[in-house]
Amino acid sequence: MTGPAGSSRRVDLCAADDVPPGTMKLCEVEDETVLVVNLDGIFHATQGICSHEYFELDRGVLTGDSILCTLHLSRFSLLDGEVIDPPAELPLAVYPVAIEGERLLIEIPAGPLEVNR
Ligand code: FES
Repeated sequence: MTGPAGSSRRVDLCAADDVPPGTMKLCEVEDETVLVVNLDGIFHATQGICSHEYFELDRGVLTGDSILCTLHLSRFSLLDGEVIDPPAELPLAVYPVAIEGERLLIEIPAGPLEVNR
């Protein structure tokens, strides 16, 4: 299942044009979802479901470089996934974003997508 130690893979998310600056999009990745956010032209990607309970984060609100989960008002940094405001305790998993042509991808270790829940 997992590749050699240190190996990574790239997984396609969506077209870069699908995520204009100041917006976000939830993308299906294998059996999970990934939230991709465009902050002033820089793309960030986190797990798509809140680490607190089941809530799709594209239904949250972008607040600068953080996202507010509107179910229980936890706030997370989009830069490193850390919890800024409770009740969530676990950070969001974050994934490095790569751009290939018109497409956005995440670069992740071999094996299942890491998600905190
Ligand atoms: S589900 Fe996000 S804060 Fe509770």
